Formats: sequence, structure tokens, C-alpha cells
Amino acid sequence: MAESMQGLKRSHRCAELSSSNIGETVTVMGWVQKNRNKGGLVFVDVRDRSGIVQVVFEEGSVSTELIEKAGSLRSEYVVAVVGKVAKRTGAVNENLATGDIEILPIELRILSESETPPFPIEENSKTKEEVRLKNRVLDLRRPDLQRNLIMRSKVATLTRQFLAEEGFLEIETPMLIKSTPEGARDYLVPSRVHPGSFYALPQSPQIFKQLLMCAGYDRYFQIVKCFRDEDLRADRQPEFTQIDMELSFVDVDDVIDVNERLLAKVFKEILGVEVSLPIQRMTWQEAMDRFGSDKPDIRFGMELTDVSEVVKDCQFVVFKNALEQGGSVRGINAKGQGTMPRKKIDKLVDFAKGYGAKGLAYVAIQEDGTIKSSFAKFMSEEEMTALVNAMGGENGDLLLFAADCNKVVWDVLGNLRLEIARQLEMLDKNEYKFLWVTEFPLLEWNEEAGRYTAMHHPFTMPMEEDLHLIDTNPGKVRAKAYDIVLNGTELGGGSVRIFNQEIQNKMFEVLGFTKEQAEEQFGFLLNAFKYGVPPHAGLAYGLDRLIMLMAKQDSIRDVIAFPKVKDASDLMTEAPAGVDQKQLDELGLAIVIKEEKVEE
Ligand code: AMO
Ligand code: AMP
Repeated sequence: MAESMQGLKRSHRCAELSSSNIGETVTVMGWVQKNRNKGGLVFVDVRDRSGIVQVVFEEGSVSTELIEKAGSLRSEYVVAVVGKVAKRTGAVNENLATGDIEILPIELRILSESETPPFPIEENSKTKEEVRLKNRVLDLRRPDLQRNLIMRSKVATLTRQFLAEEGFLEIETPMLIKSTPEGARDYLVPSRVHPGSFYALPQSPQIFKQLLMCAGYDRYFQIVKCFRDEDLRADRQPEFTQIDMELSFVDVDDVIDVNERLLAKVFKEILGVEVSLPIQRMTWQEAMDRFGSDKPDIRFGMELTDVSEVVKDCQFVVFKNALEQGGSVRGINAKGQGTMPRKKIDKLVDFAKGYGAKGLAYVAIQEDGTIKSSFAKFMSEEEMTALVNAMGGENGDLLLFAADCNKVVWDVLGNLRLEIARQLEMLDKNEYKFLWVTEFPLLEWNEEAGRYTAMHHPFTMPMEEDLHLIDTNPGKVRAKAYDIVLNGTELGGGSVRIFNQEIQNKMFEVLGFTKEQAEEQFGFLLNAFKYGVPPHAGLAYGLDRLIMLMAKQDSIRDVIAFPKVKDASDLMTEAPAGVDQKQLDELGLAIVIKEEKVEE
């Protein structure tokens, strides 16, 4: 039978108690972690979000009734314990913050009983994620998840404090809006009042924060939900949180400066990690050339080498063809991996193919200097020597080459480099290597659409020195756009915005918008731009990703209280779900189920 907590008031969280409380009478409330009944002696561990404290019911010190009650406790019962803090009589538990004390009880109340939970509430759970997500409330009781969410809350508070001190105003922007241009698919909300019309949920507050700059708010920030209907991955959720900001009368360096100080403060105060400022910067071109990625993990080397020049006259058709078609041949040197078994190399070839490679050419230099290679027979000895030298190849090294268009070569080697580093356990989660990637290309050629699309978004300012290329060679124009990268994850991104109507019109033209289309989609922004626009710039972090890295987790699901799984469903509430016909009727919606075409 559950009892009331009337007359009791919690005095401490469990793990707030320490030897400094010895002799005090305290009241703790929490969940029974475990109960060891040794007949006449019952140890009960009580847990709350701060941790665990041990309560000892001993015959002679407490009534038989109380011992019996303690013995009846089962895991996850909610209890209140009033008792005296004492020095632990048994062995000190080094693993517990409260390991050198215990509570000698005076009163025990069972506030709520519990069925046997489907999995134990413990750190590093071995239970399948699917089971945990279905029972998320129990999962959220586990100390690792509690630590993650507590850290998340602290980071949000600190960010608010810091930005407020820097003169930022926290201003909310609407959730029911007209589509925003971040490039993902929108989540739509049907309008009842305007049948056939839809709101979009914001992919980001981008346009609104720019409008706030037009309205003179000068510095804005918001910790805000964003919605993107895109394929999910470990670091992507359909709804996620941004720390979003926009600043007026600034250029790239100003945005970078305030954000470096924000990051340094957060890492110092939450993790005790010193971020040395200024954070390293690298242009997009350099990042691609050296690491094959616009979000390079610079915790380790294994950089890419362009060997196109070295192999340009050799007879290996794979290399020849790639170069003839305007591509390149590049390689990485996996130091000391020359003796990797053939089977393992084949796995790397398969891995490369997963990123669009047609193959992966390799040279395995044995300890005695002899060479095993998939293409040696197509090369003269001199050509091979030149290639090995260009790669800095030494005895015992494994050289891996991709030949294709630059995009594929970068993608393949960029990912291969990470895969090898993972296999060799070269990635230390305790090491935090920040990097600004700058000067992104303004535009990206979209093969499917047969036109350019904006790499960041259509309001990103081209670099002044490249403006003259916008008509003749738009693909070469660089943007005043920057990403903040941490250990190979894109933490955030932003740009200086276009505030000049002529450039904005030109941008729409290059992106293939007619005047009417631009007006239709962004008319309210263009209209605001008629009445005095301050130069402005901004940035947004993925808060989930930031916490994932700070908490050393592999998935953002572990830093979100109620996340969704790969198919964008919530296993606990079973959203999305069907709705009543009445609701559909009100919205003027009819569901058409497409029949899958069956191949004859
Ligand atoms: P961007 O699209 O780069 O920029 O988004 C900013 C950051 O948000 C995080 N992020 C995500 N996190 C989890 N799940 C997702 N699906 C997801 N998508 C993005 C990333 C990313 O770096 N309006 C611009 C910012 C600006 O220009 O000021 C924007 O949204 O960490
Ligand atoms: P093949 O003559 O097709 O057997 O190829 C010889 C070697 O070149 C094999 O190791 C292939 O995996 C590799 N290879 C094939 N295509 C490419 C490519 N585009 N880039 C790098 N290596 C390749």
C-alpha cells in the first residue's frame, strides 16, 4: 500500500550527503536501486538524479516491523527515508560519491510501488535500444542519460547567460510559418481555416532572424526547435535544437570571435577543458585537398596526397581514364599497415565502393621493402618508386589510391581515412579539436535539377573578391560562409548575409528563380530589405550534436529526452499515428494510399 509523504519534507538529494552531514537527521526520497536482505540486516540503496545513498536497517537499532518493511522493498519502489547520517561501518564503496557514509533509518515510507521493470536501471545498459526507447521513462532513469540531460541543461543555461552578457536578446520566432530555405523537406501542418493551405514547421529561424536585424534588434539568439524531414542518421533527428544567433554591423571575424569565446566558456565550465583560442581556421578548398572532407577530423593525420602529376604518364587505365576525364588520383598512407591481411584490404575496398568508388588501388610495402600491389603490373619500376616516394611510403606502410572525379575521390578517401582511424582506435574522445572551415563555395551544381543550388542558403554573401565571377563562372565563387567543426562533426554553420538588393537579385537569378518566384517565396524579406538593412551575419549550432560530443556519446538520441528512431517514429508514443475521420474532414483532407507497383 502506497503511503503519503504528508509531514515529510526532503532535506537533501541522495548524493548531496557526505561525511560533513554525519550526525544530522535527514530526509531523502527516491527510487530503490536495490535491496540486499541478509535476515536481520537489510541494505537499501536509494537513488535519485544526484546518485545513490545506502540505508542500513539493522536488528536492534530499528524495529522488526521496519526491517520487514525494508525487506519487502523491490527495485523502483519510490520511498522516503528519514534517518541519521553515520560513518559507514562496512567497507567504504569507492565507486559511490556517498561511499563513506550510510543512513541509519528512523522512518521508512513506501510512496509508490513498482512492477518489475523490463530492464535494470543501470549505467552502460546492455539492453537493446529499441526496448529502452519503448520504455523511455525507465531508460531516462539511468545515470548516464541523466548526466547527459543535466549537462544539456547546464550548457543551455550557460549559453543564455553568456549571450545575454554579450548584448544578445532572446526572441522567439514562430513555429507555424511559410517554408524556409534550408534545403531539406518541410514538415507541413494543414490549415483548418484555409482549407488546402499549409504551414511549414521551420527548418530554422533563418528568415525571421534576418527580419529581426532589419527591425533593429541588433543581436538576437534563441535556443530553438527546428524541423527537417530528411533521412535520419546517428547525428540527425527530424526535430532538433539549434543555438541560433544573428548579429548586426558585423563581419566574419566578429561572429567567429564571439562564438570562440562562447565555446571556450562552455568547455571550460562544464568539462574543465581549455579550448586554446583562436581556433584554427582552414578554407574549404584546403580541407577538401588535405582531408577529403568539409568537416575534417584533425585529431590525426593520414592526409590525402594528390598524385595526379606523378601518375599522369603511366599505363594503368584506371588512373589514365580518371585523369583524362578531368578527375584526379589521390592517395592516403596508412602508416605501418603494410602487412594488413588481404581479406582486410578487400573489406576496405568494399567500404570505398560504398562511397561510390569503382575500386581502390593499393600498394602494401612489406617490412623487407618488397611490394604487394593491385596494379604494379601496369607500372614501370621507376613509376612505382616515384609514386611511393610521393606518398612518403616507407617499409611497412599501406598506400591506398582512388581515381575518379574530385568529388568521389574526396568522399572515398575522406571516409576511408576515418574508417582506418576507427579500426586502429586512433580517435580519442577526450581530445577536442575545433576547426573553422571558411570560404565555402557559394553554389553547388545540382545534377538532377540541372542548375545551381545554394550551398548554405540563398541569402549568403559572396566574397567581394569573387563577385566578378558570378556571371562567368558561378561555380568558382566563394561565400562568406563558415562552419565550426569539432572532431569531424559539423557543430554549426553560418554566414554573412546579402544586404544589398542588387546582389540578392543576382543570386536569385543564378539559382534559377524568376522575379515572380523570388517574390512569391521571399517577398516579405525582399520587402523588408527596401527600408534600410543593416549588414548582418549569424550562425547556428546543433545543440544536440554539441552535447553528444561533450558527453562522449555516439548518437544524439542519447542526449535527447524523447528522440525518434530511424524511420522518424517515436517508439514510446507511437507517433506518427492515424487521426479520426472527423479531424480529416475538418481539414478538408483525404488520404490516398498509393498501391505499390508489383513487377510482373
Ligand atoms: P545549418 O543548416 O547548417 O544552418 O544548421 C545548423 C546546425 O544545426 C545542426 N543540424 C542538425 N542537428 C540534428 N539533426 C538535424 N537534422 C540537423 N540539421 C542541422 C547541425 C548544423 O551545423 N540557418 C542556418 C544557420 C545560419 O546561417 O545562421 C542553418 O540552419 O549541427
Ligand atoms: P582492375 O584492373 O579493374 O582489376 O583494377 C585494378 C585495381 O585498381 C584493383 O585493385 C581495383 O580495385 C582498382 N581500381 C579500380 N577502379 C579504381 C578507381 N576508380 N580508383 C582506384 N582504384 C581503382
